[in-house]
Amino acid sequence: MAILITGIGELTTNDPELGTLREAAVVLDGDRVAWVGPAWRAPAVDERVDVEGRAVLPGWVDSHTHLVFAGDRTAEFEARMAGNPYQAGGIAVTVEATRAASDDELAANLRRHLAEALRQGTTCVETKTGYGLTVADELRAARIARGLVDEVTFLGAHLNTGPGYLDLVCGEMLDAVAAEVRWADVFCENGAFDGPESERVLRAALDRGLGLRVHGNQLGPGPGVQLAVRLGAASVDHCTHLTDADVDALAGSSTVATLLPACDLSTRQPLAPARRLLDAGATVALATNANPGSSYTTSMGFCVATAVLQMGMSVDEAVWAATAGGARALRREDVGVLRPGARADLHVLDAPSATHLAYRPGVPLTWAVWQRGERT
Ligand code: NIG
Repeated sequence: MAILITGIGELTTNDPELGTLREAAVVLDGDRVAWVGPAWRAPAVDERVDVEGRAVLPGWVDSHTHLVFAGDRTAEFEARMAGNPYQAGGIAVTVEATRAASDDELAANLRRHLAEALRQGTTCVETKTGYGLTVADELRAARIARGLVDEVTFLGAHLNTGPGYLDLVCGEMLDAVAAEVRWADVFCENGAFDGPESERVLRAALDRGLGLRVHGNQLGPGPGVQLAVRLGAASVDHCTHLTDADVDALAGSSTVATLLPACDLSTRQPLAPARRLLDAGATVALATNANPGSSYTTSMGFCVATAVLQMGMSVDEAVWAATAGGARALRREDVGVLRPGARADLHVLDAPSATHLAYRPGVPLTWAVWQRGERT
């Protein structure tokens, strides 16, 4: 059954030809967008919803989360706010809790966080393994995620657990998990995996037909960005500490720079250099990095507001980065955009324009969400 959503005060389509429309309407047919245009030209359909002048955007595309986990790291957060640095080793605390949880507990926790994100307008989610770090636990995380999210990434290379672990990741673990995931990722950072180790993981993933993502340049300068660009990764995520050569490499590539402002704030890092990247011509995405250690939020609205208020991005750039940019980072064309044929994922704000996302930071502005054509 087709639904006409009309009375749209401002419609962000992210389609270069359609642009941003005023007094617009959208027709949804099943799980797809069937028509987009000015309200006065809308076709007659079975059902009509008038959003009375509100702004409509594509649903958020959260292209970086770690949501297959159990446990809590409040104490680590408190210590950090008291001045302790963030260290990769905190991951081990979540690994222990995740291994001890049942499949049902992990799935319920994932569902709870996805529902929380959906209530805030997030309609497409990527999530990673990486809190299992044994063949059986990584496989279990991938299978749980596969049934519940849009995109699943293998992150067995999240923490180096000791001698022989790299061989395990690049061999038996990837063999076991490859059929369950589309992507592989590596935490390329001091305290996790160095450049050559990261390259080994990524090449082993390529050999098994997986797409690549990289955690790079999070806690200091490092080889992650250059490695991601050289190997044609879809995205390099964090990008907090970049040299000019890193920015140039990203600008001359199809690798998306995915910035995670909530993580930078929660780990007391500087905010990633969004303006430098955009001015150089790099493609930028924004994501939450929702995880219990470095960034425990599912709020894309918070990331957008931070990007505008503190990272020098315009509202248009930030909204694009959190929708179409996320889609680009996941190499998808069906989400993050509202045009005929796209997935019917819509986010209606209780506000007349997307500017209110930054103008009214911290205010829950989601008024309605459609995901795959269903009002949630
Ligand atoms: O993206 N950097 C590595 N992984 C996560 C942190 C995970 C954790 O601290 O539990 C991140 O920040």
